[in-house]
Amino acid sequence: MSAGQVSVALPDLDAVGAFGKRIARVLRPGDVVALSGGLGAGKTTLARAILASLGHPGEVPSPTFTIIESYDAPPLAMPAVHADFYRLEDPAEIAEIGLDDYREGAVLIAEWPECAGGFAHEPACLDITLKPRAKDAEEGRIAIVKGGSDWLGRMP
Ligand SMILES: Nc1ncnc2c1ncn2[C@@H]1O[C@H](COP(=O)(O)OP(=O)(O)OP(=O)(O)O)[C@@H](O)[C@H]1O
Ligand SMILES: [Mg+2]
Repeated sequence: MSAGQVSVALPDLDAVGAFGKRIARVLRPGDVVALSGGLGAGKTTLARAILASLGHPGEVPSPTFTIIESYDAPPLAMPAVHADFYRLEDPAEIAEIGLDDYREGAVLIAEWPECAGGFAHEPACLDITLKPRAKDAEEGRIAIVKGGSDWLGRMP
């Protein structure tokens, strides 16, 4: 059973910051936050908001080229892995990268999850799809949020 689906309006960057805080507050090690949406949809922006709320004090580089960036606890409330799978040519490459080792005891924040084969089958996956709210993407985004069974009762 899944935890259902909700939409969250993200009209501006302040709203993204607040949503990142709501997510960070309920995260547990082992969770996946899968961030879907096209180029420029706002995936990295939301990932940065979550990492900042988990206690990361500095800049968060986009993992576009490194594919994986790890964040330690402390200073974070729990270890975190920020990944951007866009450049993977085959989902099998996640084994070569050693993703499972990085994920041990950590929360995974994944951009382009479909390029890694997807995570929606994991009960601890929170699936977030970001879309433009209006034709003009400057006018903010909408987040469609679906939780796996581990998210019952703790949807952000
Ligand atoms: N809710 C929002 N309202 C307004 N602007 C936003 C919002 N979310 C993100 N943006 C802006 O959209 C631009 C692209 O965001 P971002 O880099 O996070 O997209 P992305 O989905 O990670 O893109 P990519 O697929 O290239 O990795 C940034 O300039 C960011 O400030
Ligand atoms: Mg990005």
